[in-house]
Amino acid sequence: MYILANWKNSLSLEDSKGLADGLYSRFIQQYHNINIVLFPDDVSIATVSLIFDSVSMVSVGAQDGPLGANTTLTGSISLSNLGKFCDYVLLGHSERRITLGETNEMIARKATLAIDVGVIPVICVNKEDGTEIDPHSGLKAQLESILNRIDSRSKFVIAYEPIDAIGTGISADPKEVKKIAGIIHETIFLSRKVKGSPHIPVLYGGSINDKNIKSFLSLEGIDGVLIGSAGLTADNFLRIIEKASDSQYLK
Ligand code: 13P
Repeated sequence: MYILANWKNSLSLEDSKGLADGLYSRFIQQYHNINIVLFPDDVSIATVSLIFDSVSMVSVGAQDGPLGANTTLTGSISLSNLGKFCDYVLLGHSERRITLGETNEMIARKATLAIDVGVIPVICVNKEDGTEIDPHSGLKAQLESILNRIDSRSKFVIAYEPIDAIGTGISADPKEVKKIAGIIHETIFLSRKVKGSPHIPVLYGGSINDKNIKSFLSLEGIDGVLIGSAGLTADNFLRIIEKASDSQYLK
């Protein structure tokens, strides 16, 4: 099971270090079968990664990856730093799709580069706000763009984050999330009928907290969650881990 925390650009380096130290000192090592991935901002990645160097259940990821192997893209993390400090990279978050105009093609290019340096992409997808799911919806196009470019034996993760559930305190309807997780798994299955294809975990994100997490972890087809604001304090995040560690959710 996956518990991912996207710290966005909410924390200073000092705050990121303080949060990582706080989590490190209170993590109980018996949380087997939970993959915790922390996504600090680029300035804090090396510091946070060092703190969890010896903790196998905690990985660190970047919030975005480079678009190409070239070394002259101002504002981008280098491919070598991505490969050195990160096990995961978050790609295609709706905040970036909307604010920076990131396209499916750019996201797929970043994903293939990340895989080349041994980093697992976590690709965020959403349904277009307010539209029904249909074969031409944003969700299908987002998935197909990735599936067409990534080798069938490569591992990645999909995070379904409906835009209207992000940062609003109003999470999506679990019934709807279950339905969409089913569509995502089916789309992936149909395009990757290759022996040896790894299981592609599907996560839900959007206003997750310690009160509602169980209703998402118990859903068929959901392998974990991507948390935003509830991951910014050690107390809140540890409460979530505690709930998630209930063995019935450990898929
Ligand atoms: P919130 O949990 O704050 O809604 O943020 C979700 C998110 O954007 C995670 O990537």
